[in-house]
Amino acid sequence: MTDPYATFAPDSFAGKTVLVTGAASGMGFETARAFLSKGAEVVMCDRDADGLAKRHDDVAGMVGTPHKVVADMGDPDSIGRMFDYCDARLARLDNVVTCAAIITAKRIPEQDWAHWQRVLGVNLLGTFFTVQGAVQRMQTNAGGGNIVCVASDAGVHGGGGLIADTAYAASKAGTLSLVKSVARELAGKKVRINALNPGPTDSPMHSHIDPALKDRIAANLPIRRMGRPEDMAAAILFLCSDAASFVYGAALDVDGGSMFR
Ligand SMILES: NC(=O)c1ccc[n+]([C@@H]2O[C@H](COP(=O)([O-])OP(=O)(O)OC[C@H]3O[C@@H](n4cnc5c(N)ncnc54)[C@H](O)[C@@H]3O)[C@@H](O)[C@H]2O)c1
Repeated sequence: MTDPYATFAPDSFAGKTVLVTGAASGMGFETARAFLSKGAEVVMCDRDADGLAKRHDDVAGMVGTPHKVVADMGDPDSIGRMFDYCDARLARLDNVVTCAAIITAKRIPEQDWAHWQRVLGVNLLGTFFTVQGAVQRMQTNAGGGNIVCVASDAGVHGGGGLIADTAYAASKAGTLSLVKSVARELAGKKVRINALNPGPTDSPMHSHIDPALKDRIAANLPIRRMGRPEDMAAAILFLCSDAASFVYGAALDVDGGSMFR
């Protein structure tokens, strides 16, 4: 199989550390794998302990060094313990990628207070408090750091369809906003933060979707296919690389053209 990240030299992230949340599945796992293939030391974090252990085994023996930590992005104490783990094992934290999220597709009458608290708690508060922990550490690094928050095209267009609901879309719109606010506040601090806006991507997040609907989604995209986790991981490598040194507070659409605007 050809290397989807062949653009990057095999040692392009050697000596660098990376924390990836949501690393037991989909884009998070693929992002961890991509960084490991380029020599990085990677902390893979997820709430799913069994999935994480399996995925951690899958990448054993790669060029880089994988670690794993079970943590729940909907729980501030657990986020704190994730950073304690990083502090204990890594010389410093160079890159943080927030992929962890839950997707929900409830109609308006079905969305109660607890639903909104759960979705915003994981997707928005979890992202913010991960960014906060990253910023605290990166500001003390001589070389600064890079943060990528995975948002969604739903955060731009809204949800409300068969795939993503109002709460999910609002959590992702909030993620886009928090990236811009943090970027403003960190001006001149050598910490770059950007968002990634994936379009429809064929990952386990969409395992509940009928294959016929996936085909229709693909047919409606200008590029005529759904995204792959590799498409997102490649863009994340770029955002964390020196090639993106002038990309700051941006939202990069990687969506097969779903968001012409
Ligand atoms: N798949 C798509 O079409 C698509 C489109 C736009 C944006 N996104 C976003 O991309 C990111 C990755 O999505 P994916 O498709 O790889 O999904 P996925 O479901 O395959 O992976 C998400 C991972 O996050 C983990 N997770 C969920 N809640 C968590 C919590 N509270 N604490 C820690 N980990 C938790 C899950 O266990 C899972 O391993 C998400 O932020 C998602 O919203 C996905």
